[in-house]
Amino acid sequence: MDAAIFYYTGTGNSLWVARTLGKQMGEVELFSISDWMKDKKPVNCKVIGVVFPVHMWGVAPPILKFISEIKSLAPQYIFAIAVDGGQVAGTLVQLKNLFRKNGMVLSSGFEIKMPSNYIPFGGAETGENQQLKFESARKKISAIIPVVRNKETSPVDQGALWQRVLFTLLYKLSFSRISTLDSSFWVDGKCNKCGICSQVCPAENIVLVEGQPTWTHHCEQCMACIQWCPQAAIQYGKKTSAYARYHHPEVQLKDMLKARQLPPTK
Ligand SMILES: Cc1cc2nc3c(=O)[nH]c(=O)nc-3n(C[C@H](O)[C@H](O)[C@H](O)COP(=O)(O)O)c2cc1C
Ligand code: SF4
Ligand code: SF4
Repeated sequence: MDAAIFYYTGTGNSLWVARTLGKQMGEVELFSISDWMKDKKPVNCKVIGVVFPVHMWGVAPPILKFISEIKSLAPQYIFAIAVDGGQVAGTLVQLKNLFRKNGMVLSSGFEIKMPSNYIPFGGAETGENQQLKFESARKKISAIIPVVRNKETSPVDQGALWQRVLFTLLYKLSFSRISTLDSSFWVDGKCNKCGICSQVCPAENIVLVEGQPTWTHHCEQCMACIQWCPQAAIQYGKKTSAYARYHHPEVQLKDMLKARQLPPTK
């Protein structure tokens, strides 16, 4: 199949979903949304997939910007996968409306539940829980493939009505604050000034000042910096020192750096 899958990822879940789907579909090219947005090079594919994490019960700012830029690719069939920690709420409905506003049609949209990477709410889930989620994600990916191959139209996955109402309101309330939420990040004494946090940030939001990371308030809240720091030296608020870090076990730092087109460190 002649398809392009665009993905955005903080901790590898969406990259793993995009990769797993791509391998099974065959003839699929993967693009990092953060990289593609830098040069917006033409992509000649009739089928386009968008795989992205749910952030605050909705579509995160970098995905909103991406959608407004892809009409020129003239896709004939578009599908989306919202990768989340279990609460898709109205995310895919919002996305479908967004495509419509931009003169495109989202033909199908699926939720895939994965381990949560939102460390302010808690650390990594147990290995056993993670494996259960990966197993059911694999099953869901297998179910998605025929829908996409046959270019079927299907209703998008969505949460219960109360979730869509309540969480969409919370999304709207928090949206304008996202870029400055990085003021809750700080670095403890374990930092060895390796610079990985700055390299892995999709928003180029971390500047090293005498080797120490400094956040510059255009954060996308993807959690890559805190989750990939090899020393677990980045903290968010007061509780994260006690929490285990998470990234998808089959996604490595070099995959994240490759996606950013930067040379790997060490
Ligand atoms: C800022 C932020 C907000 C999140 N909000 C939600 C949410 O509303 N619902 C949910 O189910 N998961 C939420 N999550 C969890 C992620 O969607 C989930 O862990 C996802 O698999 C991460 O994918 P990634 O590794 O590709 O970044 C949130 C994560 C972050 C970082
Ligand atoms: S990745 Fe961690 S150890 Fe490396 S510079 Fe950033 S905070 Fe310091
Ligand atoms: S500063 Fe951290 S959380 Fe914010 S966009 Fe960069 S890597 Fe993601």
